[in-house]
Amino acid sequence: MKNSRIVGVGHYVPERVVTNQDLEKLMDTSNEWIIERTGIRERRFFDYKKDTCSNMATRATKMALERAGVDAMEIDLIVFATITPDYLFPGSGVLMQRELGLDKKTIPAIDIRNACSGFIYALSIADQFIKTGMYKTVAVVGSEIQSSAMEFSDRQRHVSVIFGDGAGAVILQATGEEGKGILSTHMHADGTFAEELYVKDPGSSRKNEERLTPEMLKGESIRAHMNGNLVFKHAIVRFIEVIMEALNTNGKTKDDIDLLIPHQANLRISNFVQQKLGLSDDRIYNNIQRYGNTTAATIPIALSEAWEEGKLKENDLVCLAAFGSGFTWASALINW
Ligand code: UT7
Repeated sequence: MKNSRIVGVGHYVPERVVTNQDLEKLMDTSNEWIIERTGIRERRFFDYKKDTCSNMATRATKMALERAGVDAMEIDLIVFATITPDYLFPGSGVLMQRELGLDKKTIPAIDIRNACSGFIYALSIADQFIKTGMYKTVAVVGSEIQSSAMEFSDRQRHVSVIFGDGAGAVILQATGEEGKGILSTHMHADGTFAEELYVKDPGSSRKNEERLTPEMLKGESIRAHMNGNLVFKHAIVRFIEVIMEALNTNGKTKDDIDLLIPHQANLRISNFVQQKLGLSDDRIYNNIQRYGNTTAATIPIALSEAWEEGKLKENDLVCLAAFGSGFTWASALINW
Protein backbone atom coordinates (compact mmCIF):
# COMPACT_ATOMS: atom_id res chain seq x y z
CA MET A 1 0.00 0.00 0.00
CA LYS A 2 1.37 3.38 -1.02
CA ASN A 3 1.09 6.58 0.99
CA SER A 4 0.04 9.80 -0.64
CA ARG A 5 2.21 12.86 -0.53
CA ILE A 6 1.49 16.54 -1.20
CA VAL A 7 3.91 17.38 -4.02
CA GLY A 8 2.62 20.86 -4.86
CA VAL A 9 0.58 23.63 -3.25
CA GLY A 10 -1.04 26.68 -4.83
CA HIS A 11 -3.60 29.37 -4.23
CA TYR A 12 -5.49 32.20 -5.86
CA VAL A 13 -7.16 35.12 -4.14
CA PRO A 14 -9.15 37.84 -5.93
CA GLU A 15 -7.39 41.19 -6.34
CA ARG A 16 -10.00 43.32 -4.59
CA VAL A 17 -9.07 43.98 -0.97
CA VAL A 18 -11.97 44.89 1.33
CA THR A 19 -10.92 46.41 4.64
CA ASN A 20 -12.88 46.61 7.88
CA GLN A 21 -13.18 50.34 7.22
CA ASP A 22 -14.90 49.54 3.91
CA LEU A 23 -17.45 47.42 5.81
CA GLU A 24 -18.00 50.20 8.37
CA LYS A 25 -19.55 52.20 5.52
CA LEU A 26 -22.08 49.44 4.79
CA MET A 27 -23.30 48.46 8.27
CA ASP A 28 -23.14 49.21 11.95
CA THR A 29 -19.78 47.68 12.72
CA SER A 30 -16.28 48.88 13.56
CA ASN A 31 -12.72 48.02 12.71
CA GLU A 32 -12.04 47.64 16.45
CA TRP A 33 -14.91 45.15 17.00
CA ILE A 34 -13.90 43.02 14.02
CA ILE A 35 -10.23 42.89 15.00
CA GLU A 36 -10.93 42.23 18.67
CA ARG A 37 -13.55 39.49 18.11
CA THR A 38 -12.12 37.81 14.99
CA GLY A 39 -8.59 39.05 14.24
CA ILE A 40 -9.65 39.91 10.67
CA ARG A 41 -8.24 43.13 9.17
CA GLU A 42 -9.17 42.63 5.52
CA ARG A 43 -10.52 40.04 3.11
CA ARG A 44 -10.77 39.57 -0.68
CA PHE A 45 -14.02 39.84 -2.66
CA PHE A 46 -14.30 38.41 -6.17
CA ASP A 47 -14.79 40.34 -9.39
CA TYR A 48 -17.85 38.84 -11.08
CA LYS A 49 -16.42 39.76 -14.49
CA LYS A 50 -13.44 37.45 -14.16
CA ASP A 51 -13.60 35.26 -11.05
CA THR A 52 -15.73 32.14 -10.63
CA CYS A 53 -15.55 29.45 -8.01
CA SER A 54 -14.19 26.96 -10.55
CA ASN A 55 -11.75 29.26 -12.36
CA MET A 56 -10.23 30.42 -9.06
CA ALA A 57 -9.71 26.74 -8.20
CA THR A 58 -8.20 26.14 -11.64
CA ARG A 59 -5.72 28.98 -11.13
CA ALA A 60 -4.74 27.60 -7.71
CA THR A 61 -4.34 24.11 -9.21
CA LYS A 62 -2.15 25.40 -12.05
CA MET A 63 0.14 27.03 -9.49
CA ALA A 64 0.30 23.78 -7.50
CA LEU A 65 1.06 21.77 -10.68
CA GLU A 66 3.81 24.15 -11.71
CA ARG A 67 5.45 24.07 -8.30
CA ALA A 68 5.24 20.27 -8.30
CA GLY A 69 6.59 19.97 -11.84
CA VAL A 70 3.56 17.84 -12.70
CA ASP A 71 1.65 18.12 -15.98
CA ALA A 72 -2.12 18.65 -15.74
CA MET A 73 -2.57 15.58 -17.95
CA GLU A 74 -1.20 13.42 -15.13
CA ILE A 75 -4.18 14.23 -12.88
CA ASP A 76 -6.49 11.24 -12.71
CA LEU A 77 -9.01 12.49 -10.11
CA ILE A 78 -10.34 15.88 -8.95
CA VAL A 79 -11.81 16.30 -5.47
CA PHE A 80 -13.41 19.73 -5.20
CA ALA A 81 -14.57 21.13 -1.85
CA THR A 82 -16.95 24.09 -1.82
CA ILE A 83 -20.25 25.25 -0.37
CA THR A 84 -20.52 28.07 -2.91
CA PRO A 85 -20.46 26.21 -6.25
CA ASP A 86 -20.88 27.95 -9.62
CA TYR A 87 -24.17 26.12 -10.21
CA LEU A 88 -26.63 24.26 -8.01
CA PHE A 89 -25.66 21.34 -10.23
CA PRO A 90 -23.46 20.01 -11.73
CA GLY A 91 -20.70 20.49 -9.19
CA SER A 92 -17.73 22.79 -9.75
CA GLY A 93 -15.39 19.79 -10.12
CA VAL A 94 -16.50 19.12 -13.69
CA LEU A 95 -16.07 22.80 -14.57
CA MET A 96 -12.50 22.73 -13.30
CA GLN A 97 -11.93 19.48 -15.18
CA ARG A 98 -13.01 21.22 -18.39
CA GLU A 99 -10.91 24.32 -17.68
CA LEU A 100 -7.83 22.16 -17.17
CA GLY A 101 -8.48 20.47 -20.51
CA LEU A 102 -9.12 17.15 -18.78
CA ASP A 103 -12.59 16.68 -20.28
CA LYS A 104 -10.96 14.83 -23.19
CA LYS A 105 -9.42 12.44 -20.66
CA THR A 106 -12.82 12.01 -18.91
CA ILE A 107 -11.27 11.80 -15.45
CA PRO A 108 -13.76 11.77 -12.55
CA ALA A 109 -14.55 14.86 -10.47
CA ILE A 110 -16.02 14.53 -6.98
CA ASP A 111 -17.67 17.46 -5.19
CA ILE A 112 -17.52 17.74 -1.41
CA ARG A 113 -19.78 20.10 0.52
CA ASN A 114 -18.68 19.75 4.12
CA ALA A 115 -18.12 23.49 4.56
CA CYS A 116 -15.15 24.38 6.77
CA SER A 117 -14.10 20.73 7.08
CA GLY A 118 -14.49 20.28 3.32
CA PHE A 119 -10.82 20.45 2.41
CA ILE A 120 -9.71 17.83 4.95
CA TYR A 121 -12.66 15.61 4.00
CA ALA A 122 -11.56 15.98 0.35
CA LEU A 123 -7.94 15.24 1.25
CA SER A 124 -9.00 12.15 3.16
CA ILE A 125 -11.02 10.84 0.20
CA ALA A 126 -8.13 11.49 -2.21
CA ASP A 127 -5.74 9.75 0.19
CA GLN A 128 -7.91 6.61 0.28
CA PHE A 129 -8.00 6.39 -3.53
CA ILE A 130 -4.21 6.65 -3.68
CA LYS A 131 -3.75 4.08 -0.88
CA THR A 132 -5.88 1.55 -2.73
CA GLY A 133 -3.85 2.13 -5.89
CA MET A 134 -6.87 3.26 -7.91
CA TYR A 135 -5.39 6.69 -8.70
CA LYS A 136 -1.83 8.04 -8.70
CA THR A 137 -2.22 11.83 -9.02
CA VAL A 138 -5.12 13.71 -7.47
CA ALA A 139 -5.93 17.44 -7.43
CA VAL A 140 -7.62 18.42 -4.16
CA VAL A 141 -9.06 21.92 -4.05
CA GLY A 142 -11.09 24.22 -1.83
CA SER A 143 -12.68 27.28 -3.43
CA GLU A 144 -15.31 29.72 -2.23
CA ILE A 145 -17.10 32.86 -3.33
CA GLN A 146 -18.92 33.90 -0.17
CA SER A 147 -19.30 37.60 -0.90
CA SER A 148 -22.02 37.26 -3.55
CA ALA A 149 -24.29 35.47 -1.07
CA MET A 150 -23.76 37.83 1.85
CA GLU A 151 -26.00 40.68 2.93
CA PHE A 152 -24.17 43.79 4.08
CA SER A 153 -26.70 44.93 6.63
CA ASP A 154 -26.93 45.35 10.39
CA ARG A 155 -28.96 42.16 10.80
CA GLN A 156 -26.30 40.07 9.04
CA ARG A 157 -23.23 41.87 10.37
CA HIS A 158 -22.06 38.98 12.60
CA VAL A 159 -21.75 36.84 9.42
CA SER A 160 -20.73 39.28 6.70
CA VAL A 161 -17.67 40.67 8.47
CA ILE A 162 -16.18 37.19 8.78
CA PHE A 163 -16.26 35.55 5.37
CA GLY A 164 -14.14 36.11 2.26
CA ASP A 165 -13.37 34.64 -1.17
CA GLY A 166 -10.41 32.58 -2.37
CA ALA A 167 -9.12 29.23 -3.52
CA GLY A 168 -6.34 26.80 -2.66
CA ALA A 169 -5.16 23.51 -4.13
CA VAL A 170 -2.77 20.64 -3.54
CA ILE A 171 -1.47 17.93 -5.85
CA LEU A 172 -1.35 14.55 -4.16
CA GLN A 173 0.75 11.70 -5.51
CA ALA A 174 1.55 8.17 -4.47
CA THR A 175 4.91 7.72 -2.77
CA GLY A 176 6.84 4.53 -2.16
CA GLU A 177 8.74 6.11 0.72
CA GLU A 178 7.86 4.49 4.05
CA GLY A 179 6.41 6.84 6.69
CA LYS A 180 6.22 9.82 4.30
CA GLY A 181 3.28 11.97 3.31
CA ILE A 182 -0.18 11.72 4.83
CA LEU A 183 0.10 9.54 7.93
CA SER A 184 -3.59 9.54 8.80
CA THR A 185 -6.82 11.48 8.42
CA HIS A 186 -9.73 11.67 10.85
CA MET A 187 -13.27 12.79 10.08
CA HIS A 188 -16.28 13.37 12.34
CA ALA A 189 -19.80 14.76 12.13
CA ASP A 190 -22.66 15.48 14.51
CA GLY A 191 -25.87 16.37 12.68
CA THR A 192 -27.59 17.35 15.94
CA PHE A 193 -26.31 20.85 15.26
CA ALA A 194 -27.06 21.10 11.53
CA GLU A 195 -29.26 24.19 11.91
CA GLU A 196 -26.80 26.10 14.13
CA LEU A 197 -24.79 27.11 11.05
CA TYR A 198 -26.67 26.75 7.77
CA VAL A 199 -28.38 28.31 4.77
CA LYS A 200 -31.99 27.14 4.67
CA ASP A 201 -33.28 28.30 1.30
CA PRO A 202 -33.94 27.50 -1.45
CA GLY A 203 -34.24 24.04 0.11
CA SER A 204 -35.75 21.11 -1.78
CA SER A 205 -38.08 19.62 0.82
CA ARG A 206 -41.17 21.72 0.25
CA LYS A 207 -43.87 22.28 -2.32
CA ASN A 208 -42.34 23.63 -5.52
CA GLU A 209 -44.26 26.92 -5.35
CA GLU A 210 -42.65 27.47 -1.91
CA ARG A 211 -39.09 26.77 -2.97
CA LEU A 212 -38.24 30.30 -4.00
CA THR A 213 -40.69 33.08 -3.19
CA PRO A 214 -40.36 36.88 -3.36
CA GLU A 215 -40.71 36.94 0.48
CA MET A 216 -37.76 34.61 0.76
CA LEU A 217 -35.56 37.08 -1.11
CA LYS A 218 -36.39 39.78 1.45
CA GLY A 219 -35.96 37.54 4.48
CA GLU A 220 -32.88 36.01 6.03
CA SER A 221 -33.52 32.37 5.12
CA ILE A 222 -31.39 32.61 1.97
CA ARG A 223 -28.51 33.95 4.11
CA ALA A 224 -26.21 32.05 6.44
CA HIS A 225 -27.68 31.59 9.90
CA MET A 226 -24.93 31.19 12.47
CA ASN A 227 -25.20 30.71 16.21
CA GLY A 228 -21.70 32.12 16.64
CA ASN A 229 -21.37 31.54 20.38
CA LEU A 230 -22.40 27.89 20.17
CA VAL A 231 -20.19 27.22 17.15
CA PHE A 232 -17.27 28.81 18.98
CA LYS A 233 -17.78 26.67 22.10
CA HIS A 234 -17.94 23.41 20.14
CA ALA A 235 -15.05 24.41 17.87
CA ILE A 236 -12.51 24.84 20.64
CA VAL A 237 -13.35 21.41 22.11
CA ARG A 238 -13.44 19.50 18.81
CA PHE A 239 -10.25 21.11 17.46
CA ILE A 240 -8.24 19.83 20.41
CA GLU A 241 -9.94 16.41 20.33
CA VAL A 242 -9.31 15.78 16.64
CA ILE A 243 -5.70 17.03 16.77
CA MET A 244 -5.01 14.72 19.73
CA GLU A 245 -6.68 11.85 17.86
CA ALA A 246 -4.28 12.34 14.94
CA LEU A 247 -1.25 12.53 17.25
CA ASN A 248 -2.28 9.49 19.34
CA THR A 249 -2.95 7.38 16.24
CA ASN A 250 0.64 7.94 15.13
CA GLY A 251 2.32 7.65 18.54
CA LYS A 252 3.17 11.37 18.53
CA THR A 253 2.68 14.12 21.10
CA LYS A 254 1.87 17.81 20.76
CA ASP A 255 5.58 18.53 21.21
CA ASP A 256 6.26 16.73 17.91
CA ILE A 257 4.15 19.18 15.86
CA ASP A 258 6.32 21.40 13.66
CA LEU A 259 3.42 23.31 12.11
CA LEU A 260 -0.28 23.35 12.90
CA ILE A 261 -2.53 24.80 10.19
CA PRO A 262 -5.99 25.25 11.68
CA HIS A 263 -9.03 26.19 9.61
CA GLN A 264 -9.15 29.99 9.73
CA ALA A 265 -12.53 30.70 11.34
CA ASN A 266 -11.59 33.15 14.06
CA LEU A 267 -8.15 34.13 15.38
CA ARG A 268 -9.48 33.68 18.92
CA ILE A 269 -10.20 30.01 18.16
CA SER A 270 -6.68 29.52 16.74
CA ASN A 271 -5.14 31.32 19.72
CA PHE A 272 -7.09 29.13 22.15
CA VAL A 273 -5.91 25.94 20.39
CA GLN A 274 -2.34 27.23 20.27
CA GLN A 275 -2.35 28.00 23.98
CA LYS A 276 -3.97 24.69 24.93
CA LEU A 277 -1.34 22.75 22.96
CA GLY A 278 1.50 24.97 24.19
CA LEU A 279 2.67 25.82 20.67
CA SER A 280 5.06 28.71 20.13
CA ASP A 281 4.07 31.31 17.49
CA ASP A 282 6.31 29.76 14.83
CA ARG A 283 4.49 26.40 15.14
CA ILE A 284 1.04 27.62 14.11
CA TYR A 285 0.07 29.33 10.85
CA ASN A 286 -2.62 32.01 10.67
CA ASN A 287 -3.56 34.27 7.77
CA ILE A 288 -7.18 35.07 8.70
CA GLN A 289 -5.99 38.64 9.31
CA ARG A 290 -5.67 39.09 5.51
CA TYR A 291 -8.35 36.81 4.08
CA GLY A 292 -11.12 36.29 6.65
CA ASN A 293 -12.82 32.90 6.65
CA THR A 294 -12.76 31.38 3.16
CA THR A 295 -14.42 28.15 4.38
CA ALA A 296 -13.07 25.16 2.38
CA ALA A 297 -10.22 27.28 1.01
CA THR A 298 -8.58 28.44 4.25
CA ILE A 299 -6.32 25.41 4.75
CA PRO A 300 -4.97 25.06 1.18
CA ILE A 301 -4.39 28.84 0.94
CA ALA A 302 -2.50 28.68 4.25
CA LEU A 303 -0.51 25.63 3.08
CA SER A 304 0.48 27.48 -0.09
CA GLU A 305 1.55 30.62 1.78
CA ALA A 306 3.38 28.65 4.48
CA TRP A 307 5.29 26.82 1.73
CA GLU A 308 6.18 30.15 0.07
CA GLU A 309 7.52 31.38 3.40
CA GLY A 310 9.72 28.27 3.76
CA LYS A 311 7.69 26.97 6.70
CA LEU A 312 7.10 23.49 5.28
CA LYS A 313 10.37 21.59 5.34
CA GLU A 314 11.18 17.99 4.47
CA ASN A 315 10.21 15.65 7.34
CA ASP A 316 8.31 18.35 9.27
CA LEU A 317 5.30 17.02 11.16
CA VAL A 318 2.38 19.09 9.88
CA CYS A 319 -1.09 18.90 11.38
CA LEU A 320 -4.23 20.20 9.63
CA ALA A 321 -7.47 20.60 11.59
CA ALA A 322 -10.91 22.03 10.91
CA PHE A 323 -14.35 22.50 12.43
CA GLY A 324 -17.55 23.93 10.99
CA SER A 325 -21.09 23.57 9.72
CA GLY A 326 -22.71 20.19 10.23
CA PHE A 327 -21.19 20.17 12.73
CA THR A 328 -18.26 18.46 11.05
CA TRP A 329 -14.64 18.37 12.11
CA ALA A 330 -11.50 16.67 10.84
CA SER A 331 -7.72 16.47 10.99
CA ALA A 332 -4.78 15.17 8.99
CA LEU A 333 -1.24 14.42 10.14
CA ILE A 334 1.47 14.71 7.52
CA ASN A 335 5.17 13.90 7.45
CA TRP A 336 6.09 16.61 4.96
O1 UT7 B 1 -15.94 28.59 9.88
C1 UT7 B 1 -17.25 28.35 10.23
C2 UT7 B 1 -17.36 28.21 11.68
N1 UT7 B 1 -17.68 29.48 12.27
C3 UT7 B 1 -17.10 29.81 13.38
O2 UT7 B 1 -16.23 29.11 13.86
C4 UT7 B 1 -17.58 31.08 14.05
C5 UT7 B 1 -17.43 30.95 15.53
N2 UT7 B 1 -17.96 32.11 16.23
C6 UT7 B 1 -17.36 33.31 16.17
O3 UT7 B 1 -16.36 33.46 15.52
C7 UT7 B 1 -17.95 34.41 17.02
O4 UT7 B 1 -19.04 33.91 17.75
C8 UT7 B 1 -18.39 35.64 16.21
C9 UT7 B 1 -17.18 36.36 15.66
C10 UT7 B 1 -19.32 35.23 15.10
C11 UT7 B 1 -19.12 36.63 17.11
O5 UT7 B 1 -18.29 37.00 18.17
P1 UT7 B 1 -18.81 36.92 19.66
O6 UT7 B 1 -17.71 37.39 20.50
O7 UT7 B 1 -19.33 35.54 19.90
O8 UT7 B 1 -19.96 38.00 19.66
P2 UT7 B 1 -21.51 37.83 20.03
O9 UT7 B 1 -22.23 37.12 18.94
O10 UT7 B 1 -21.62 37.31 21.43
O11 UT7 B 1 -21.96 39.33 20.02
C12 UT7 B 1 -21.45 40.29 20.97
C13 UT7 B 1 -22.01 41.66 20.62
C14 UT7 B 1 -23.52 41.65 20.39
O12 UT7 B 1 -24.01 42.87 20.90
P3 UT7 B 1 -24.70 42.94 22.36
O13 UT7 B 1 -25.85 41.98 22.31
O14 UT7 B 1 -23.64 42.54 23.33
O15 UT7 B 1 -25.11 44.36 22.47
C15 UT7 B 1 -23.65 41.66 18.91
O16 UT7 B 1 -24.84 42.25 18.46
O17 UT7 B 1 -21.42 42.11 19.40
C16 UT7 B 1 -22.47 42.50 18.49
N3 UT7 B 1 -22.01 42.26 17.13
C17 UT7 B 1 -21.32 43.16 16.41
N4 UT7 B 1 -20.92 44.41 16.71
C18 UT7 B 1 -20.23 45.07 15.74
C19 UT7 B 1 -22.18 41.14 16.38
N5 UT7 B 1 -21.60 41.32 15.18
C20 UT7 B 1 -21.07 42.56 15.17
C21 UT7 B 1 -20.35 43.30 14.22
N6 UT7 B 1 -19.95 44.55 14.56
N7 UT7 B 1 -20.03 42.81 13.01
